This record gives sequence, C-alpha cells and structure tokens, in this order.
Amino acid sequence: MATVLEREKLRVRPTGAALAADVEGVDLSGSLSPELRAAIKKAWGDHLVLRFRGQSLSDDDLMRFSREFGELDWAPIAATNDAPEGREYVMVVSNVVENGQPIGQLGNYEALWHTDMSYVDEPPMASALYSLEAPPSGGDTGFCNMYLALETLPADLRRAVEGKTCVHDASRNSAGELRRGYVDAPDASQTVGAVHPIVRTHPETGCKALFLGRRRSAYIQGLALADSEALLNALWAHATKDEFTWYQQWRAGDLILWDNRCVMHRRDAFDPATRRVMHRTQIKGDRPY
Ligand code: SIN
Repeated sequence: MATVLEREKLRVRPTGAALAADVEGVDLSGSLSPELRAAIKKAWGDHLVLRFRGQSLSDDDLMRFSREFGELDWAPIAATNDAPEGREYVMVVSNVVENGQPIGQLGNYEALWHTDMSYVDEPPMASALYSLEAPPSGGDTGFCNMYLALETLPADLRRAVEGKTCVHDASRNSAGELRRGYVDAPDASQTVGAVHPIVRTHPETGCKALFLGRRRSAYIQGLALADSEALLNALWAHATKDEFTWYQQWRAGDLILWDNRCVMHRRDAFDPATRRVMHRTQIKGDRPY
C-alpha cells in the first residue's frame, strides 16, 4: 500500500518483489526538507533499493542528493579512463565512445553479481545510479536481498559460514576487466583484496545479511581451496535465486539508490550499437563486522 506524506506528496510504492520501491512525488534537483529526507531514509531502510523516476539531475544535484545520506566516496579504480578534475566522486558507467575514447566504464557487457568495492576495507555503504540515456532494451540492473538470502540459508550452510571470513578480489571489475596496476593471482587462495566476514551486521538496523561481494577469485580463509570453492558455489547458488531479486528496466531520468550492506547487484549485457549513459555516486561506509 502506498504511504502518503501530505505536505510533500511523497508516495512510496513497493515493487511487490523481494526488495525495492518506487518513490513518487519528489523532485531531487533541489535540497530535501528534513521531513522529506527522513521519509526517504525510512523508505530506504524498509525496501533497501529506491527508484525515483522522471528526474532531471546535474552531477551537482546527484552529489548533493547522495550527501543527504553520508559523505561521498571516491569512484573505484578504473580499468580504462580517469575521472575529469572535480568529478572524482562521479563514475560514468557507459558504453559510449567519443573521439576514440570510452567516456565511461563497463562497456556493454554483462556485469556479474557484486557489491560495489567490497574489495576495500571500508566499502561504500550505498550507491546511487542515475540514467541520462537508456538503451531501448537490455542493460537491466538486478538487485538481490541479502537479508533474505541469509534468513533462508539452509542450516548446514549457515553452520559452515559461521565465523568465516572471505577474501574479496580487487584485481578485476564486475565486467571482468583487469584494473590498472593489478595482475591475476595464480589461484584463489592467493587473491589480493580486503577480508570481510561472510555474515555481516547492518550497522543501522542491527540485522544480519550474507556478504559475498564478488564470486570471481573469492576465497574463504582457513579452508582448502577445493572446499572454499564448493562452499562459495553453494552460497552463490542460493543467494542469487530469482525469488530474492528485483530487476530495474531503465528509462532516462531514473535514479536508483541502493544499500550495499544488504544488497548485491548485477547488470544484463545490451546491444553495443545502442547508447547507455549512467552517472554513479557512492557514499562512504564502515568496515563490515
Ligand atoms: C554497477 O555495477 O554499478 C553498474 C550497474 C549498471 O550499469 O546497471
């Protein structure tokens, strides 16, 4: 059922899937009143992913909106281009090539399930992705509810991950491209990246979520490589079941805000002959515990 905040005409419409809601009746190009900010925060806590349609935002608007929820974080280490001066907080996600140079990251490929920058010690707690141009089809972004993934984890898997930590590979991005300055480890037990608990506690809700980060080259510390692979395969097969997911079909002017502490995301590939231009900000987070 939609929630209506009379003064601001804000409506929150849950998607009916395992997560996500549309937030309507709000123009994000101006600053938010404290009442509106609190209502958006509440909706975000309830639904984990929020979609705001029909927005018209500059990078400054996107950064100001993101700052309503915390301090901005730097964009990830690029596989291709650098952020222009003054735009270190805005990552361009795009397949568009101008004058022979890609204007952004991730091309038109599939991006595998992941949590943004889980390979650093203090990954961003949230990300906001704003669509300037959307392809006519493809390039949908999927989100997955990691509270639910943990709650429904079979008892043997729950026992197997209790107290375990996982190494999150820093070397490749979610489209599989090697980041500048990195080489591939000989096997997953030698992966370079941050070490995090597999079950993490959300610092605001106190609820526990499965925290897998990224599958490629992940390694569960203290296990033989083959056992780590088998356990990770079982965890990933469970966590990414359709019943825990919701997919965003992009239109220009959509802004999606998601909580990296309890949500993973992925992206479908799309036709390289079509254009997709998104701008992304990230909000600083704490060390997972
Ligand atoms: C990302 O992983 O942040 C990119 C998602 C997308 O392009 O939809």
